[in-house]
Amino acid sequence: MRECSSENMRYKILTAEEAAELIEDGECIGVSGFTEAGAVKVVPKAIAEKAKAEHAAGRAFKLKVMCGASNSAAVDGELAAAEAVSLRMPYMSCPQTRAQINNAELSYQDPHISLFAQNMRYGIIPRVKTAIVEACEVTDDGKITFTMSQGSSADFCLLADRIIVELNTYHKPCLKEIHDIFIPEDPPNRTPIPLVAPEEKIGTPYVQVAPEKIVGVVKTHLKDGLPPYRPGDTITDKIGENVIRFLEHEYRVGRIPENFLPIQSGVGNVANAVLAALGRSTVIPPVKMYTEVIQEAVIGLIKQGKITFASGCSLSVSDATMEEIYRDFDYWKHKVLLRPTEMTNNPAIVRQLGLICMNTAIEADIFGNVNSTHLLGNKVMNGIGGSGDFARAAAITIFSCPSVAKGGSISAIVPMVSHVDHTEHDVRVLITEQGIADLRGKSPRQRAELIIENCAHPDYKPLLRRYVELTPKGHTPHNLAKAYAFHLALQETGDMRNVKL
Ligand code: COA
Repeated sequence: MRECSSENMRYKILTAEEAAELIEDGECIGVSGFTEAGAVKVVPKAIAEKAKAEHAAGRAFKLKVMCGASNSAAVDGELAAAEAVSLRMPYMSCPQTRAQINNAELSYQDPHISLFAQNMRYGIIPRVKTAIVEACEVTDDGKITFTMSQGSSADFCLLADRIIVELNTYHKPCLKEIHDIFIPEDPPNRTPIPLVAPEEKIGTPYVQVAPEKIVGVVKTHLKDGLPPYRPGDTITDKIGENVIRFLEHEYRVGRIPENFLPIQSGVGNVANAVLAALGRSTVIPPVKMYTEVIQEAVIGLIKQGKITFASGCSLSVSDATMEEIYRDFDYWKHKVLLRPTEMTNNPAIVRQLGLICMNTAIEADIFGNVNSTHLLGNKVMNGIGGSGDFARAAAITIFSCPSVAKGGSISAIVPMVSHVDHTEHDVRVLITEQGIADLRGKSPRQRAELIIENCAHPDYKPLLRRYVELTPKGHTPHNLAKAYAFHLALQETGDMRNVKL
């Protein structure tokens, strides 16, 4: 087997522009990258330039763009700026893409990430024609080793008619030691997935494709360019402390076993604060992580010994941390592992491992339904990502968020969420900087009392109590005429505190 980092590889070497020339209007492309980690870096920019030139010449040029989840500024940002995207799936967090989606200029479909690849294999969603993936190695016999993320890249390569590889020589082929690619059989022929611990390897370190499908290799030497870790503020720090206080209590009273349970942690500022608080806990023992994105905060906790192993689909770390990982790769190769999202987010594995899942809400209602995705019911923020995959299947599901947003003019605790991603049946614990509401075993009226008392901001407690009092009878005391009164007050006056009940 001859490695393809040499000059005499069997594949055609292309410039980014030559690669972009292969892509046609209307095509469905599958692009590597999960955050900035492992994103293709030069071909999407060249495609964006091609789109601009086609538009200037009066010709249509838009693509269906499939990614692992959120992608880099070079992928989502440049393609959106060039108005080159007709459909984007799944999760995104790019401001330009978000603006086009909310202006109804771009179709967005936001499925549970764990089902995304299977649905593409079934033909339920558009199948990728061209896979464009970043690799640290591609061999003459068609073995592609990814770089800092997997997402759905292996499926993109397997399903595509043709593959363009960005061979990034900044990354080293030793990365194959931190990849494990296992793609389960499709139902009804699926056998049990043989994974019983986060550190287990059950697949191959590369994806094997027919070499004839690799139509070109574009060489790069580029870092991911992730921004450095942003420390939390006092509100997110308090949320983090409350989450850990809850888990410490569960551990002390024996509802979490002696060797603890593996954890999953979501994305964003609140998630970083929860991890920081975990690092400060003297009660919680060292834990394993089975998560989607391994973010910067996790690396610190591994060094500290608080996290003993982290399995994810993306190693989303700053360039300085990446250098550190390469410097001491013999240590890190035993500490982190990357898998396809179909494995990291697989609800069967989540239930089997008994994960503690900690994700962030945009708003929650007084009965425990959670909105993770929409502002005022109609503008999408990012997407559901993996939160639904984890929430229902977890041993303990915690959602947290600040009790208010935008200087207090928005309560995150409302009578009825303006969009529902996670139902009251999935949300077991709700936490804000104000406190903790353990909703397990509680009726809707008991949940409302707990959430208002423990999680709502003091400015909103009397207003929320008055809402519950409007309906003295009924299992779930909703008042359909007033359920969105808080949201309407925000729309009409700019402040939910002006609500009239
Ligand atoms: N109404 C309006 N705006 C709100 C709001 C509300 N109820 N709640 C929050 N916001 C705004 C904040 O003010 C902030 O705005 P800014 O960027 O202008 O400052 C923005 O939304 C983000 O809020 P922040 O508190 O910084 O949240 P975050 O960075 O922790 O991210 C989510 C929160 C929910 C957007 C993010 O976690 C997410 O996309 N989750 C869904 C996917 C997921 O859970 N993935 C993990 C599973 S793998």
